[in-house]
Amino acid sequence: MAESNGNSEPVFLIFGKNGWIGGLLQESLKEQGAKYHLADARLEDRAAIVADLEKYKPTHVLNAAGVTGRPNVDWCESHKLETIRANVLGCLNLADVCNERGIHMTYYGTGCIFHYDDDFPVDSGKGFKESDKPNFTGSYYSHCKAITENLIKEYPNVLTLRVRMPIVADLTYPRNFITKIIKYDKVINIPNSMTVLPELLPMSIEMAKRKLTGIMNFTNPGAISHNEILELYKEYIDPEFSWSNFTVEEQAKVIVAPRSNNLLDTERIKGEFPELLSIKDSLIKYVFEPNAQKKDEICAAVREMRGR
Ligand SMILES: NC(=O)c1ccc[n+]([C@@H]2O[C@H](COP(=O)([O-])OP(=O)(O)OC[C@H]3O[C@@H](n4cnc5c(N)ncnc54)[C@H](OP(=O)(O)O)[C@@H]3O)[C@@H](O)[C@H]2O)c1
Repeated sequence: MAESNGNSEPVFLIFGKNGWIGGLLQESLKEQGAKYHLADARLEDRAAIVADLEKYKPTHVLNAAGVTGRPNVDWCESHKLETIRANVLGCLNLADVCNERGIHMTYYGTGCIFHYDDDFPVDSGKGFKESDKPNFTGSYYSHCKAITENLIKEYPNVLTLRVRMPIVADLTYPRNFITKIIKYDKVINIPNSMTVLPELLPMSIEMAKRKLTGIMNFTNPGAISHNEILELYKEYIDPEFSWSNFTVEEQAKVIVAPRSNNLLDTERIKGEFPELLSIKDSLIKYVFEPNAQKKDEICAAVREMRGR
């Protein structure tokens, strides 16, 4: 694989520059003083991808582009061809062009391709490993993501990161998993693996530098339930906060496609980064402690957002 272009400094090229994760990657690379560029190509346009690679001569591509659906993944149920074009064809296209040129590609994929079942019961502590075959294709988004993961794993230049329920410190950012469950009238209560982005995204850049390949469960170790997160919100931010739960069957009535709930095994990522915090400790360090410093402000913003 390409070491560099005449010097030893890695050069990153980000696809998905206007997206959430693409934006956070730019901040992280800037903070590290790394050299990076932003791609213009659409993923399905092979010639435009080639032009970007020739223009910027990256040693590493970070692929955070794809359709995620607005307001949520239910959009994919009624936009199947757009979902295939970006998330299957486009993603494979980019991997293929990078492979031809010996360029390492990190693909920000998803861990929402697994679901608790009789072999992996909830609360058993048994997590899905990188080698396990996806068992959740209940939504069209997850269906396509599972197909892509299964095909892209043949590429020797690609690292696939299974992101889940991504979390950031900003409790008013609508895509933040915590913001979503704070805002909903009712939430289910199931333990899940999650990705605390401020801790994990810088590690993904380091993984790219190490030229890791294959599949990586990209979550903090352990699982945390919806109620446990809301209890932390109560403890650190707003003691008056209240919420109510509903069942998965009741939830199904307010969404179009089913959602996955799972625990991912984190042996591989812990082997690379032994310092990685458990999900609860990471949430406290990266989300709740910083917000507790300005809890009045956060409380007011969240109450306004909830309209109550
Ligand atoms: N956010 C989550 O909850 C979550 C969870 C797990 C995994 N992930 C995965 O992480 C990756 C990044 O997610 P994100 O939340 O940052 O998504 P995002 O905010 O929706 O951003 C995705 C970006 O991809 C671009 N894009 C879409 N189709 C494209 C195409 N065909 N060619 C080139 N660019 C295209 C979009 O640009 P335009 O607006 O110009 O189309 C957008 O800037 C995705 O693969 C997603 O599936 C996200």
